[in-house]
Amino acid sequence: MNQLWHHCHAITMAGGSYNVIENAALVIGDGRIVWIGAEADLPDDVAVESRRDLGGRWLTPGLIDCHTHLVFGGDRSGEFEQRLEGVDYETIARQGGGIVSSVRATREADFDTLYASAEARAQVLLSEGVTTLEIKSGYGLDLESERRMLQVARELGRRLPVTVHTTCLAAHALPPEYAGRGDDYIDLVCETILPTLAAEGLVDAVDGFCEGIAFSPEQIRRVFAAARGLGLPVKLHAEQLSHLGGCQLAAEYGALSADHVEYADVDDARAMADSGTAAVLLPGAFLTLREAQSPPIAAFREHGVPMALATDLNPGTSPVMSLRLMMNLACTLFRLTPEEALAGVTLNAAKALGVAATHGSLEVGKVADAVAWEIGGPAELAYWLGGQLPVTRFKAGAVVDR
Ligand code: NIG
Ligand code: FE
Repeated sequence: MNQLWHHCHAITMAGGSYNVIENAALVIGDGRIVWIGAEADLPDDVAVESRRDLGGRWLTPGLIDCHTHLVFGGDRSGEFEQRLEGVDYETIARQGGGIVSSVRATREADFDTLYASAEARAQVLLSEGVTTLEIKSGYGLDLESERRMLQVARELGRRLPVTVHTTCLAAHALPPEYAGRGDDYIDLVCETILPTLAAEGLVDAVDGFCEGIAFSPEQIRRVFAAARGLGLPVKLHAEQLSHLGGCQLAAEYGALSADHVEYADVDDARAMADSGTAAVLLPGAFLTLREAQSPPIAAFREHGVPMALATDLNPGTSPVMSLRLMMNLACTLFRLTPEEALAGVTLNAAKALGVAATHGSLEVGKVADAVAWEIGGPAELAYWLGGQLPVTRFKAGAVVDR
């Protein structure tokens, strides 16, 4: 049951570069790409049951948002106002606001309430070309609430045309009932929360927040060891506000990614390159917190660390619902090229989720997740500062909108 897609220009992202094929055609079979090339080179003997004329549009791999916290209760617009009055993120967190205020609201919300608000946010991401989404827990911070968050995430993947990867971020912040007992909370994470939720099939990866206002490298090391014992890959919120050694620790555990990484240095870049750990850049959080220190882009480039980009969609530091806006901000704030920005939301985002063998580029054998754009060329994807570009999304070869 092969289908032919033709009359398009393919931005394949093979090897992380545009690798444009003008006047391209693709043969799709069983939801995978069976053939891709110039339409003029299409072999005569390929059996094709149906044809889709893409009307001269540009085709990219489906976009991948590899770092979100999109399941949460309440909102934190009050803290936004506080920050505008000059109170900083760390001060708000130490006063019992920040992550912990979202924890209160998330614990109070039932499944349906959490699901409804999360689905609305996910739909916005999908509408601009996202076909794969990572969703973290981390606003529950007890077994039941972390479970509910991850169940909501799984349900989103069942009901919406998007692949959802779940990440257990129980080591996100210290819940109020454990005040002054950080190590005891890490015991709970390692001995109860992770093994229980992993056994329930709710966890694809394990994350933590290594920072002065969260957990120390020693505490994160215990979480990583527990993840390793469960056979789960790890990632880490590292060097966001200070340099604590999170990137080195992530690299030591072969982490899929180290995220934020504003305060990472050349040695971190080297270690991440060696361990194949992607750097996930989060310009939405950088902008919202009015950070001054940019991630070490030149060092990542020099050492060949794959740079991914994500929304970090969360109620506190990154109330962002546009992955394409992140492409623009990464270029404007971090000086990525539009080509690097597109790699950041396709192939390198797939690396940050450990799925680059099957996703992230338009290549033979990969899943036919793709987006057809009405644009004049690839750089336009990073050029617009927000706003909606008309898209047609394909999941495993099937049209899912338009
Ligand atoms: O990725 N850095 C830590 N975690 C989130 C912030 C979550 C929050 O403030 O609610 C982040 O930016
Ligand atoms: Fe985050």
